Amino acid sequence: MSLSGSPRTVLLSGGSRGLGMVVAQRLLEDGHSIATFSRTRTPFCDEMESAHGGRFLFVEGDMSDNASLSAVMKASSERFGRLDVLVNNAGVAFDGVLAMFPVARIEKMMQINLTGALVLTRLFVRHLIGGSPEDKDKGGSIINISSIIALRGYNGLASYAATKAGMLGMTKGLARELGDRGIRVNAICPGYLETEMTHGLDGGQRDQIVRRTPLGRLGTPEDVVGTVRFLISDEAAFITGQEITVDGGVTC
Ligand SMILES: NC(=O)c1ccc[n+]([C@@H]2O[C@H](COP(=O)([O-])OP(=O)(O)OC[C@H]3O[C@@H](n4cnc5c(N)ncnc54)[C@H](OP(=O)(O)O)[C@@H]3O)[C@@H](O)[C@H]2O)c1
Repeated sequence: MSLSGSPRTVLLSGGSRGLGMVVAQRLLEDGHSIATFSRTRTPFCDEMESAHGGRFLFVEGDMSDNASLSAVMKASSERFGRLDVLVNNAGVAFDGVLAMFPVARIEKMMQINLTGALVLTRLFVRHLIGGSPEDKDKGGSIINISSIIALRGYNGLASYAATKAGMLGMTKGLARELGDRGIRVNAICPGYLETEMTHGLDGGQRDQIVRRTPLGRLGTPEDVVGTVRFLISDEAAFITGQEITVDGGVTC
C-alpha cells in the first residue's frame, strides 16, 4: 500500500508491546518518527533505538499520572520539535462482572484508558495550537484506539466498554472542536486481537469469537495498522469524527 503525505512525527502511547509496538515498527518503516512511552521499557524499545537512531524515542511514562504525561510531552517535543499525530493506544482491560468488580479497579481503568487519553490529548492540542503561526497551519491528526466492546459490549467488560465508549464521544466532540484548525480526530474499533490483552480468553470464548467472525479468526495488530497508516496519510484529509471498525466482520 502506498500512501501519500510527508513524514509525520507521531506521539504514540503504549508503543512497547502489542498493537502499539506493531504500529511503531510499521510507521518507522514508512519513514515517520515515533515518540512513545509506557510504564516498562521492553527489548523492542532498545532494538528500535539502535535501528532507527534519531527517529525513535522511548521514555517511561504512566497514563494514570498527569505529571508523567506532561513529562512525556516535554521529552517528545524537545526531541522532535513539532509533533503532527497523536495515537491514543495505551490501555488495559480488567475484567469481571460489575457487581463483584472492585471500585478501585473501575477508577484505575478509567484513569488509564479515558482520563489519561483526555489529558494527553489536551497536552497535544495545546502543543499544536501554541506553535509558531507557520506551524499552526499544518493541522494535525488524533487517532483513538477504542474497541468493538464499546459498540457491542461483552459479558464481564462493562467498565472497559464504558472507557472505550468514552473515547468515541471524545472523538466526535473534539472533531467538532478542532476541525477549523485542520486537526482531524478519528477512532479505530478493533475486534479481538492476538495480543497479551486477550491471553486471558479461555478456549471456549476464543472458539465462540472465531465462530461469530465471518473472516473466521481473531485479528492481529497487523490487521489494524493499515487503518492507522491510512488515517495519518493525506488520503484521509477529509475524514474526521469517524470510527472505523476493523474486526473481521464480527459486528456486522
Ligand atoms: N487486544 C485486543 O483484543 C484489543 C481489541 C480492541 C481494542 N484494543 C485496544 O488496543 C490498545 C492496545 O491493546 P493491546 O492489545 O496492544 O494491549 P497490550 O498488549 O496489553 O499492550 C498495552 C500497551 O499499553 C501500555 N500501557 C498499559 N497501561 C499503561 C499505563 N498506565 N501507562 C502507559 N502505558 C500503559 C502497555 O505498556 P506497560 O504495561 O508497560 O505500561 C503496552 O505498551 C488498547 O487501548 C486496547 O484497549 C485491544
